[in-house]
Amino acid sequence: MQARYWHGLKKSTNPIGFGCWQIAGNHSIDGTPHGWGTVNENEAVNLLLDAINSGIDFFDTAQSYNNGKSEELLGTVIKQTKKEIVVCTKIALTEDEIKNKKLANDFFQRVEASLKRLNLNRIDILLIHNPPDDLEWKKFDYGKLNELQTQGKIGTFGVSSKSLNGAIKVVEANFGTVVEWVFNVFERRPMQELFPLIEKNKFNFIARSPLSRGLINPKYINQQVKFNSDDFRSTLQQDWIDWTISSLKKIHHNGIAVDDLIKQSITYCIQHKTVTSAIIGIKTQKQLEDVLKINNSINDNAFLEEKFLNDIEKCFPKWL
Ligand SMILES: NC(=O)c1ccc[n+]([C@@H]2O[C@H](COP(=O)([O-])OP(=O)(O)OC[C@H]3O[C@@H](n4cnc5c(N)ncnc54)[C@H](OP(=O)(O)O)[C@@H]3O)[C@@H](O)[C@H]2O)c1
Repeated sequence: MQARYWHGLKKSTNPIGFGCWQIAGNHSIDGTPHGWGTVNENEAVNLLLDAINSGIDFFDTAQSYNNGKSEELLGTVIKQTKKEIVVCTKIALTEDEIKNKKLANDFFQRVEASLKRLNLNRIDILLIHNPPDDLEWKKFDYGKLNELQTQGKIGTFGVSSKSLNGAIKVVEANFGTVVEWVFNVFERRPMQELFPLIEKNKFNFIARSPLSRGLINPKYINQQVKFNSDDFRSTLQQDWIDWTISSLKKIHHNGIAVDDLIKQSITYCIQHKTVTSAIIGIKTQKQLEDVLKINNSINDNAFLEEKFLNDIEKCFPKWL
């Protein structure tokens, strides 16, 4: 599939990217699980290496994924490979930064810490992680981000948003060049207002949760959804899980080839040219193999059949 161009970065990558939250391992924030279960670090490194060697060249991580562990594992692989990849990481604002609408002096040190863990001299994309939705980006002093760009420590910047409305505000304010939010067959609302804005303002869009946090999986047609207590998904809203699974079952009843569900869902995300990268949270070698098979079988003309698209529209009223 033709590579996607990153505005403001002057680089292109495969539209299927790798989300590195899943490989971060067990951790919790204020007593609530924030990871995706136990991870063997050697296996995670091998998974990342295999992905890179098979042509995956965009990786999304964050400082908060197990206190930098996800960045560190990616950094181990970056040290071992000669392949060129594009890396996006995220830093959360402190309460003072939110209140003052200004990055604190120690922001530079926080960026240096990521650079060190990632074994990089430059972070291609630095995103502000999950800021409050009502932050007024037009009034936010991002001089330090410009300074980091001038110093060559970051390529470009933007925001990974908590909500669709938050993402819209970031693009409206032209804060950087990258916005990250959810996009998948169930969550299609970005197509209404966000995508046209992104195209107008020449932004890049990172589509997260392309598999709706792993719930887009044919096994859930017959199997009950149950997550271990160390999996952050055990804290997801039950009515959202129920809605997602009932939509999955509707597809099944409408005769859509469920076996092909993962392929169709990934194709759905990346066939939208507004999506610069759809980052799949890959946790196992089998999942990587399946994603690579899908990657190799999709070409630029691999748009989903009209019938599938119509059925999706019928089956999935928008989640509000
Ligand atoms: N606010 C933010 O900035 C934010 C928030 C969320 C995510 N993200 C980023 O987005 C990335 C991905 O989004 P997400 O975390 O919501 O998850 P996702 O990609 O929608 O789903 C990940 C889950 O999908 C399943 N999966 C992966 N490959 C598969 C395959 N080939 N076949 C079947 N199932 C497969 C696995 O589920 P099982 O574990 O059940 O096997 C995996 O844990 C994260 O890694 C992270 O980088 C950012």
